Amino acid sequence: MIKNFKLKKNNVEIFFVNRKSKIYPNIWLRDHIKNTENWDFRTNQRKTFTANLAPDLKAVKGKILENGKLLSITWSDSSSPAKYSHKFLLNNSEKKQLKKNIKPWIGRDIKNQIYIDYNKIDKNKNFLNLLESLHKYGFAVIKNCKPNLKSVKKIANKIGYVRNSIFGGLWTFESDNKKADSAYSQEELRPHTDSTYSNDAPGLQLLLCCKYNAKGGASIMVDGLSIARELKKNHQKLFKTLTKIKVKGKYLGDGVDLEAERPVFRLNNNKEIVQVSFNNYDRAPIELPYKSTLEFYNAIKKFDQLANSKKYQWRHILRPGELLIFNNWRVMHGRGSFSGKRKMAGCYINKEDFDSCCRMNSIIN
Ligand SMILES: [Fe+2]
Repeated sequence: MIKNFKLKKNNVEIFFVNRKSKIYPNIWLRDHIKNTENWDFRTNQRKTFTANLAPDLKAVKGKILENGKLLSITWSDSSSPAKYSHKFLLNNSEKKQLKKNIKPWIGRDIKNQIYIDYNKIDKNKNFLNLLESLHKYGFAVIKNCKPNLKSVKKIANKIGYVRNSIFGGLWTFESDNKKADSAYSQEELRPHTDSTYSNDAPGLQLLLCCKYNAKGGASIMVDGLSIARELKKNHQKLFKTLTKIKVKGKYLGDGVDLEAERPVFRLNNNKEIVQVSFNNYDRAPIELPYKSTLEFYNAIKKFDQLANSKKYQWRHILRPGELLIFNNWRVMHGRGSFSGKRKMAGCYINKEDFDSCCRMNSIIN
């Protein structure tokens, strides 16, 4: 609730009950008026021509309404007052709550909390559990799926829709040395994120075990946020290097030549990590000044050592009917070496569609 406010020359200071006061620039408040003149309630789009607003506009009058639920402000360029709810002001003043309910983890933190039953997934409560696990830990395992593409499709369509890529939409694969990608080999696949060669890497990856007649081949998960936390705490310089230097990924083969680049830790305006990208297999030659080149190699050495240490890894052999689903913008995946036959099915889902599903279900705001 709003308990008081101060109209100043260029901003408004708002005092909330049980919170620190916040200062909002006049231009920001004026830009965010939600009335029929400034906002299209049908399409949820802004109507204000922001570039036409006077930079020196003033708050002429203010009034607290409905016991602090609303603040009304009259601006120097309009006669009718604009109303702002305390919820809107609070939600948009603090750092976005991206980190809320997110739990960076190391191997031993993961017990049974990430398992969900496929047969119960249509119940809203269980679907919410799946989303919560994906949000909190960055991954989940769905048990008791029928080992076919239908199960993959059903889960994908509950969250968003199947994304198309060079691998197709829904795919199945067995180890196949004819393919240009390391994923098809039987050697250990070290932890990585997929599609560092794509400007918009897939948000979720689904991997369903359809057949397993093999030895080894454990799926590996590593939380990129935990590695970031360790580096930030004990190797600040390396962490900074990994937030600054853009690393190019490349996929050459199968009739395509794809490239994209971004730092290992991509940050938002508030210096929070929004994406972890690391794929040593797909890394293209880096062109940097001599000193930065050495800094870069130092940084990825430490990063990769941590990602490959047992402490940070969760390992689990997927059995037929188990589907691993993970956030490819946060958690790295890998697979232990194996011998024998292993057949997998899967697909990708876009990050924004996963986020949208989380917002629609109030997992994030
Ligand atoms: Fe992969």
